Amino acid sequence: MTPTHHPWTHTAADLELPDVWTTLPGPRSLALFERHDRHTTGSNADHTVYPLAQASRRGHLIVDADGNTFADHLSAWGASPFGPTPPQVKAAMDAAWASHGMQISGWMPNTAAFALVDKLAAIAPGRLSRVEYSVSGTLAVEGAVKFMREARGRPLIITFGGQYHGESTYMSAGASSDLSNVSSGRTQYVAGLVMVPYPNRFRSPFRKGPGPFDDTEVLDYLDYLLVQQIHPDQVAGVLIEPVLGEGGIHAPSQAFWDRLGALCRRWGWLLCLDEVQTCMGRTGELFAMQRWQGIDPDLLLLGKAFAAGGQPIAAILGTDAVMQDTSLHLGSTYGFAPAACAGALAGIELIEAGGVLDNARRLEALFLEEMRPLIQRFEQVGDVRAAGAMAAIEFVRSKAGHEPAPAFQFAVHQAALRRGVLGISQRGKWHLRLQPALTMPESVFRDSCHRIQEAMAEVAAHPPAEAESIQAAAAQAAR
Ligand SMILES: Cc1ncc(COP(=O)(O)O)c(C=O)c1O
Repeated sequence: MTPTHHPWTHTAADLELPDVWTTLPGPRSLALFERHDRHTTGSNADHTVYPLAQASRRGHLIVDADGNTFADHLSAWGASPFGPTPPQVKAAMDAAWASHGMQISGWMPNTAAFALVDKLAAIAPGRLSRVEYSVSGTLAVEGAVKFMREARGRPLIITFGGQYHGESTYMSAGASSDLSNVSSGRTQYVAGLVMVPYPNRFRSPFRKGPGPFDDTEVLDYLDYLLVQQIHPDQVAGVLIEPVLGEGGIHAPSQAFWDRLGALCRRWGWLLCLDEVQTCMGRTGELFAMQRWQGIDPDLLLLGKAFAAGGQPIAAILGTDAVMQDTSLHLGSTYGFAPAACAGALAGIELIEAGGVLDNARRLEALFLEEMRPLIQRFEQVGDVRAAGAMAAIEFVRSKAGHEPAPAFQFAVHQAALRRGVLGISQRGKWHLRLQPALTMPESVFRDSCHRIQEAMAEVAAHPPAEAESIQAAAAQAAR
């Protein structure tokens, strides 16, 4: 029987607030780290970002091995959009698992995969009508690059600085959100990618001082490249995140999309939206592209929240023109495994039942209401941005110079953790992000905003020293 509990009908557990009672890491987490760190990679053994070992999740809290609780603004980096174990998703996965077991859907057609394809075809925006199976966001992006090159018979892909497309050799060189990532011995140089700065109204590589800037300037730069460096008929397509996620939550202007669309039509470039992080309600729309008018993608990538908190799954949506006559076969062993398909389908149905997108929009409004006044209150708060339930605070050393302040950001994150707020932070970056479940109650979210404000006041009283330059900070973080 389908459970009647909807993920947005909040239970007492959903409304619980966090409580941290040990120093971090607590003694039990520390003991686990000491044992585990001998057997893992150096990067996994670095616990400075999250100095706790999760023992369980409850409502919208992460519970660590010491019994500390943290409001979860990570939500499995977006892959857990309805809290820990949405009952409808679990029930659907269990049923598919019982009837199909594991299956390689790209080779063995099955009813679970077909049911999901039917649903995707029904909800796919614009001209998108076909589905390629995948298992992770990274593989979906890699597949999309192949589709673009095959369909256009051209070598180059335009990408935007600050985007993230996963850890494959090719795409980690094609994205820059991981700060000076491309270097010998780390992420090798690859050919075929042309990078333009991501449209950013607050910070421009072409101008001094903080914005607001006209973010279509980056397309002036692209126009310049088309004269000075690249012949436009060598470009197969454009790969863009409709809202920049890892790069700090930037939502381009309508004018940017209009002009990018015109460039694509003018030169026959395909438009590929990487919605791995933004899909399935994250921005308060089913697809982030629906925040604007007239975006007409040829390809659109799904991952993370598409799995609805269930098993790994990703997809490439494409038009007939790109996918109908392809000879590419990109599915992987685990792509569209039956139980993952059933979970993803249940997740879409949960959103369709209503309430989820509205809640994400309310979280956006609440974040802006609570946090934008901090720009006046703190010298180090440069900008506050949100798109649905993805939100960021960008820190600067001073309002006048607006140089990035990564040390300040990291200190605020640590101070927030001590107060039980677990956001998304990375060393070397100067924005702190919140990415709660789409269904997080407003009371829990508002409480977290207040705790972050207290954390900021603590750090602002004794601001940490910043690296000598942002390049030095990026190089340190990338080491
Ligand atoms: C926009 C975007 N694309 C691709 C990826 C890679 O997805 P995955 O980690 O599932 O391979 C991510 C992951 O953060 C992402 O944010």
